[in-house]
Amino acid sequence: MISFRSRSVRWYSGTPVDGRARLLVSVLGLLLTLVGAAEGIAQPVASPSEPAAEEAAKEAGSASQSKPVEEPRNSYLGRVVAKPMSHLGAPWLIRPERDEEENASVSFQQLKLTDGMVVCDLGCGNGYWTLPMARKVGEDGRVYAVDIQREMLQKLRQRADRYNLKNIQPVLGTVDDPKLPEDTLDLLLMVDVYHEFSHPQSMLWEIRRALKPTGVIALLEYREEDPTVPIKPLHKMSKRQIMKEYQANGFKLVREYNELPWQHLMFFARDDSPLEEIQPEPTDEVLQRLDDGSNRGR
Ligand SMILES: C[S@@+](CC[C@H](N)C(=O)[O-])C[C@H]1O[C@@H](n2cnc3c(N)ncnc32)[C@H](O)[C@@H]1O
Repeated sequence: MISFRSRSVRWYSGTPVDGRARLLVSVLGLLLTLVGAAEGIAQPVASPSEPAAEEAAKEAGSASQSKPVEEPRNSYLGRVVAKPMSHLGAPWLIRPERDEEENASVSFQQLKLTDGMVVCDLGCGNGYWTLPMARKVGEDGRVYAVDIQREMLQKLRQRADRYNLKNIQPVLGTVDDPKLPEDTLDLLLMVDVYHEFSHPQSMLWEIRRALKPTGVIALLEYREEDPTVPIKPLHKMSKRQIMKEYQANGFKLVREYNELPWQHLMFFARDDSPLEEIQPEPTDEVLQRLDDGSNRGR
């Protein structure tokens, strides 16, 4: 048991909205070509770098070669964005009963970390997950620990020093940029943070860029579909919503673990990854199964 105490332009297929965007570009290109042929002059072919196509891509929310220009959001694809948790609440993140309540040790095992991996704890807070990750990837590995609150990183540093962990690199990110190196990560963990992103498209664009082709996001979010999970509604997400947002930004689901008492644990890879895509298990079936095994509401 782990101790928790101590870019050419691309169009992504798979979503109906992407399909509409592609269709729009094709129709635009066809029209321009027809007009050009009629006038006997060379015509530019509509390309996604042109304003109309860029507009369509923006609307579709799909990943693109260039980083999206995104204003702070109150909502994204029908979901209300939550405000980030203040560093004043940091003690709650390392409460002794957390492992028992959330089965965090089990989630941790599901990350399948091994010696030498390069990983990231994005929205690390005071490092509840960062420290065990650092121990697990060992001296040959590295953990980028990113947060937008300096105070959280200070608390993380103090805890890392106490346990003499040298392979943690704290990174002060911004609301639209986690400041991660390109094509580097084997795994990026986000626990109870994605729903707080005021710039979700920009963050996912940067994360996609930072992952290796075989790298994965491990996303842990409290289940919105389960009213017995004692967390504020804005700090929960449904599986359906997660799928919508990740598919719209160039990711595919490659693994999930549906046995936790409170959370979804979903693994996403870049949609050009060699990892095989899977379909999500519907949450009503998951909850029914957990109820049958009395595995819920712990
Ligand atoms: C609820 S806490 C969770 C902390 C930690 N993941 C855990 O499970 O203990 C969410 C953290 O995400 C951070 N955060 C919010 N938006 C962020 C962003 N765009 N980039 C990095 N960190 C962010 C907040 O500052 C806060 O420390």
